[in-house]
Amino acid sequence: MIDELQALRDEALAALAAAADAAALEQWRITYLGKKGRLTTVLRGLGALPPAERPRVGQVANEIKALLESAGAARAEEIKRQERQRSLQAEAVDVTLPGRPVRLGQHHIVTQVIREILDIYIGLGFQVVEGPEVEWDRYNFEMLNIPKDHPARDIWDTYYIAHPTRMGEMLMRTHTSPAQPRVMERTRPPVRVVVPGKVYRFEATDATHETMFYQIEGLAVDEGITFGDMKGVLTTMAKRLFGEERRVRFRCDYFPFTEPSAEVAISCHRCDGKDPDCRVCKGSGWLEILGAGMVHPNVLAGVGYDPLIYSGFAFGLGPERVAMLKYGIDDIRLFYGNDLRFLRQFR
Ligand code: DAH
Repeated sequence: MIDELQALRDEALAALAAAADAAALEQWRITYLGKKGRLTTVLRGLGALPPAERPRVGQVANEIKALLESAGAARAEEIKRQERQRSLQAEAVDVTLPGRPVRLGQHHIVTQVIREILDIYIGLGFQVVEGPEVEWDRYNFEMLNIPKDHPARDIWDTYYIAHPTRMGEMLMRTHTSPAQPRVMERTRPPVRVVVPGKVYRFEATDATHETMFYQIEGLAVDEGITFGDMKGVLTTMAKRLFGEERRVRFRCDYFPFTEPSAEVAISCHRCDGKDPDCRVCKGSGWLEILGAGMVHPNVLAGVGYDPLIYSGFAFGLGPERVAMLKYGIDDIRLFYGNDLRFLRQFR
């Protein structure tokens, strides 16, 4: 009987060692230690033994039962450990692999140029203000000394809003100049502002024309402001934008809201006028970058400023044009074509 028990123990231990997972272990427990298990059956049969043998066999059987129970528990631990190990290995992360690159966004090249220009003016004491893109005819034209039906309106191809109201006609502003009367109307001199924003032209698009583009307007009004002040400010901007060696050229021009008016050009930053085949200045040596002038007395009087006391200068420039000249871009439509291969070049 004892031999039989020992054989059963050895068999059970061998079977336990072969149980590879939780399910096999449970099966093993049922086979040997369950209610109808093999060892249990032996223990139940003890009563049938001769009384003299019972204690001895009983003791061995109980010892084997305890042994199998603790071996089973140890095996259960072992199996759990192995399973944890396996799942850890399956989920292993190789921390030495290179990370996935996060692509950083960036400002649009025109935004970058606008900010660069505004920074220059902020440094000169100008404030940045903005105005509406849908504008009254009054601010876009009339208060800028451009009466209704005046031929000067032909300079701007205008998108009009379909339904004139009692307050007048509305349009998409054709320039940022309406900011001039808007700002002066609500403040007293001194005025020093720059006004960035989108403007709209009813125009066929080509390499140098867009129906929407940006302008930056500038306005300075105070007692005793002269053409010399304007030259100083615009020359400073040209040097900061295109390099200290830049020279500035002022030539006569016409705008209804300035008198005198000037077309302002800077010396070519690529060839400085030395390359007759220069692709930036086309050999002229000069880049026209803005319109400017002394604020017309009618504009000052229109907002209640006495033109005998106050004077000022104004200018308007196109940041796309500045970007084109600075980076050698030959088609304005590239800015708004949303081709990331183009835009990502300007980081
Ligand atoms: N508003 C003009 C345009 O869009 C540009 C301009 C010229 C603005 C002269 C000015 C200025 O302030 O003084 O064509």
